[in-house]
Parts: sequence; structure tokens; C-alpha cells
Amino acid sequence: MKPPLKNLNRGGFLFPKTDLRDLTESECHCCNGLEKLMRGIGMKPLVIFGAAFFDVIKLIDAINRHAPTWNLLGFIDDTQEIQGKSFMGYPILGGRERIPELNLQGVYFVNNVHGPRNKKVVADMLLDQGCRIATLIHPGIDMNYVTTGIGCILPDGCVVGSGTRIGNFVTLRLRVLLSHDVKVEDYVFVGPGAIIGGETILKEGAFVGAGATVMLYREVGAGAMVGAGSVVTKDVMAHTTVAGVPARELSEKRG
Ligand SMILES: CC(C)(COP(=O)(O)OP(=O)(O)OC[C@H]1O[C@@H](n2cnc3c(N)ncnc32)[C@H](O)[C@@H]1OP(=O)(O)O)[C@@H](O)C(=O)NCCC(=O)NCCS
Repeated sequence: MKPPLKNLNRGGFLFPKTDLRDLTESECHCCNGLEKLMRGIGMKPLVIFGAAFFDVIKLIDAINRHAPTWNLLGFIDDTQEIQGKSFMGYPILGGRERIPELNLQGVYFVNNVHGPRNKKVVADMLLDQGCRIATLIHPGIDMNYVTTGIGCILPDGCVVGSGTRIGNFVTLRLRVLLSHDVKVEDYVFVGPGAIIGGETILKEGAFVGAGATVMLYREVGAGAMVGAGSVVTKDVMAHTTVAGVPARELSEKRG
């Protein structure tokens, strides 16, 4: 019977590499009943879909420091080359074929795929399989007078103004500023440090690059991309890519 290894850096527990069943069974032998204890104090088992963008682990740690909430078991990822590996101390538990088994164990999933198109594919797949979906919001973010859907990731340093409505499976990176009354539709990705002006609409699957600014009252169309560091002064048409200061359509620029 191996005891869990305490990982002081992470402020959590690093489980010895073992079979998934051991990690999720309530009568757990590998961790001396720790799993049972965690469930007893209300921690929910969590798996990250997509082994990249490991900042999400820092976010989970921050949430757990505030209130013990998530017992992170590891990653699900279909990439063959990374099977059997671990990242930041958490194992790759397998590909999507593990999902039914995890569902039976009451596991929650966080959709950690960032590109809006692929994120939607993964979200549809998780929902089709009846997965429990986690929403991760850093405890330092004031979410009063804000609504969010399911499956969102809102990390450290984000500021979300009142009246803002955030859809499903929205990913913000570090230090995003959503001013007041912003509408962020499903599957939107906003890169680190971006500033989104008041009453702006980011339509479904829009991608806003790192450090970009979208001026107030603008609309970034469905599936549109805004380049890093750009300043959007006009509405961005759906499925176009704009970049620069002021932002111009790249095809126009190329032409
Ligand atoms: C806008 C973007 C999507 C364009 O990618 P792309 O279609 O591969 O474009 P290219 O790299 O071929 O560049 C095409 C032209 O646009 C310019 N360009 C690209 N990105 C730009 C940007 N952010 N700002 C200004 N000009 C940019 C290039 O200099 C190039 O100009 P040129 O034709 O005069 O040489 C990409 O550059 C970008 O900014 N992605 C966002 C990355 C990001 O922030 N990710 C989140 C990190 S967590």
C-alpha cells in the first residue's frame, strides 16, 4: 500500500502512477483511502481534456486553496505519443475511450482545448456522452452581476465588468479585461492581456489574440480572428482575420 506523495509546490497531492480505477474507486488502495476522504470533504474528481496549456492546473490549485473543490486525476488526450507520460505531476490517463468509464465514476471534465473550432468538437463530444462539465473561475475574479455558462475557464487576473454575459465553453487567458456589458458567445477564446471594450459582442467561436484591444460597442463576428496586439476599431466580419493598429483584414492587407 503506497502512500500519496505530497507535492508542496502544487499544494496538492501527487498520486503514484497507477491504474485509473485505483484513482477513482472509493475503496482506494493506492492512496490509503485519501480519495474517499477527499470525497468525504466534498472534493469532486476532475479530468482535464487536452494535455496542453498547463496554466489550468494553477487555476485548479488556486480554486482548491480558496475552497477544496477539485480532486484532479490527470488528463485525457488522444495523442498517441504522450500516452504514459505525465505533466506537472499529473498522468495522461488515456484517450477519449476512457470517458464512459470516467462518467461511471462521477468524474467532471474541463475542456482545455483552446482553438474555438476544436473546442466545439470536444464540447459536443463530451455533452453527447453525458459528461459532467466543470467551470473553472479564479476565486479572485469578482463575478457579481455577471452570468456564465458551462465549461468556461477564467484564470487569474481577469477582470469582468458588470452586465457581462459569458456563454458556454469560453476560455479567457491570464489578465483579460472584459469591460461592462460585454457579450461573449460560446467557444470564444480571448488571449492573455486582451482588453474588450464595453458593450462589445464577441460572436460564437471568435478568437482574440494576446494583448489585442477591441474598442467599445464593436462586434467581432463568428469564427473571426483578431491578431495579437491589434486594435479593433471597426466591426470584424464573421470568419475573417484582422490584425494591426488599427486592425485591417489580412486578405485586404495581403492584396
Ligand atoms: C493574426 C494571425 C492569426 C495571422 O496569422 P497568419 O494568417 O499565419 O498570418 P502571417 O503570419 O502569415 O502574417 C500575414 C501578415 O500579417 C502580419 N501580421 C500577422 N499577425 C499580425 C499581428 N498580430 N499584428 C500585425 N500584423 C500581423 C504579418 O506581419 C504579415 O504581414 P506581411 O504580409 O506584410 O509580411 C496571427 O499572426 C496572430 O496574431 N495570432 C494570434 C496568436 C495569439 O495571440 N495567440 C494566443 C496566445 S495564448
